[in-house]
Amino acid sequence: MAIPYYSGRMTDWVMNKDNPSAFSSTILAMAAFTIGSAVSECICDCIYNATMTGIHTRIQGSVFRSVVHQEIAFFDTQHTGDITSRITTDTNTMSDSLSEQLSLLMWYLMRVMCLLAFMLSLSFKLSLFTLALIPFIIIVPEFFAHFYQLSGLLLKVSILFYGGSLVTDGSVTSGGLVSFILYQLQFTSAIEALLHVYPHVKKAVGASEKVFEYMDRRPVMPPVGTLRPTKLKAHIEFRNVTFAYLKQPDLPVLKNVSFEVRSGEVTALVGASAAGKTTCVSLLQRFYQPQSGQILLDGIPIEEYEHKHYHGKVALVSQEPVLFARSVEENIAYGLEDVNAERVANAARDARAHQFITALRDGYSTDAGEKGGQLSGGQKQRVAIARALIRDPQVLILDDATSCLDNETEHLVHQSVYSRAEGRAVLVIAHRPSSIERADRIVVLEGGKVVEEGTPQQLQEKGSSYHRLLQVHSPDAGSEQSEEGLVETEVES
Ligand SMILES: Nc1ncnc2c1ncn2[C@@H]1O[C@H](COP(=O)(O)OP(=O)(O)OP(=O)(O)O)[C@@H](O)[C@H]1O
Ligand SMILES: [Mg+2]
Repeated sequence: MAIPYYSGRMTDWVMNKDNPSAFSSTILAMAAFTIGSAVSECICDCIYNATMTGIHTRIQGSVFRSVVHQEIAFFDTQHTGDITSRITTDTNTMSDSLSEQLSLLMWYLMRVMCLLAFMLSLSFKLSLFTLALIPFIIIVPEFFAHFYQLSGLLLKVSILFYGGSLVTDGSVTSGGLVSFILYQLQFTSAIEALLHVYPHVKKAVGASEKVFEYMDRRPVMPPVGTLRPTKLKAHIEFRNVTFAYLKQPDLPVLKNVSFEVRSGEVTALVGASAAGKTTCVSLLQRFYQPQSGQILLDGIPIEEYEHKHYHGKVALVSQEPVLFARSVEENIAYGLEDVNAERVANAARDARAHQFITALRDGYSTDAGEKGGQLSGGQKQRVAIARALIRDPQVLILDDATSCLDNETEHLVHQSVYSRAEGRAVLVIAHRPSSIERADRIVVLEGGKVVEEGTPQQLQEKGSSYHRLLQVHSPDAGSEQSEEGLVETEVES
């Protein structure tokens, strides 16, 4: 930016040879400025790139943090592909285009301001004159494109004419006029570039809206509580719970459901497929919020417990266990700190998994594969049960957690779980009679309503819903098997 200034000085030197050293000092100054500007540009580029990389990482981190803090219902309505693309592609596009366009905008803005300062320092009058004309050379081509060159030429001629008159009356030197014209040329093209970049910046900001939508979204769940009792009685109560999923708000899946899971007892929640059993478990896990009614743990609504503490006390083995692509040991101890191998092995023994794990190629270090793909369905279920048992939870929920096991192994797993029910509430969801007959209490769900509740003996009455379910799933039910019964038989075979 100093080049036009020194070009003017050179002109003055040529016009006035009184000061012979002015030429070499001007050349030296120009060389120094050129080298200085190259070095500072390099430093600025480095700082800029480092800053933009930092901003990109922070944006990506913020979007990811926001996504993992959303309630489960959010993931029911959003496609996995959309979420992944927001976190990866969109944040990349946003930071790339914003950084590129913003840097151009800032660069041209600074350039315009500096050039204007130089122009003002050379001649205040000529600067005002140029500023007054510039809107015309920008606006005219907007309406009459072929006047673009003409309007530019007119501006130059006018400046030369007015500048010439200022040189004549001595208020500007010839060199000053040369410098001014060089600055003015750069100034005009910087203004044009600025007007060109601005719409691109607006567009980049518009494209970032989706990313900001995710970042600003607050989970639609009541704020988490603060209770952190070390010991629980472990008594769960569903009190008039009504719940419908967001996708079908008019179709309640649970209708006024009330039942208890008592401490020291094994409660079996039974019912046909789609009766709402897993939905009860999801509510108990605070994945969703019931539309009405309450779920109480030791007489206190579950939302009043501190989130992490609550999930440390209430462990779930879900219908579709999720294993991670890491070793079996890490899968069992997942999320826990300072867990030794002995504790992992004990939990595996309780889940009847120790034997098959030690028979694996690398024992506990064997990689479970993506989503546990290296293990069979029954092995995955037992690893998942071990993962729940190692936490020594006070409320243990097994949602069809043994459906892939053979009868003998299932019996052993249940024996192990039932014998540890002391001081702990166990909620078992299962279809096979063998899994539920040994429970202390049975709750029968039908179409989202509790239709029966009691001990197995009380419900054995002929004609009851429980009795019908037992008959449907009994091995000799033959051709009368329901759809779910057939599915069960397929899995077992
Ligand atoms: N995330 C969801 N979004 C919308 N509807 C759902 C969702 N999960 C379950 N449902 C619906 O809720 C009803 C109850 O499902 P739920 O999974 O609770 O049944 P279930 O009793 O566990 O059945 P199963 O024995 O087959 O596991 C079903 O009609 C199902 O379609
Ligand atoms: Mg289910």
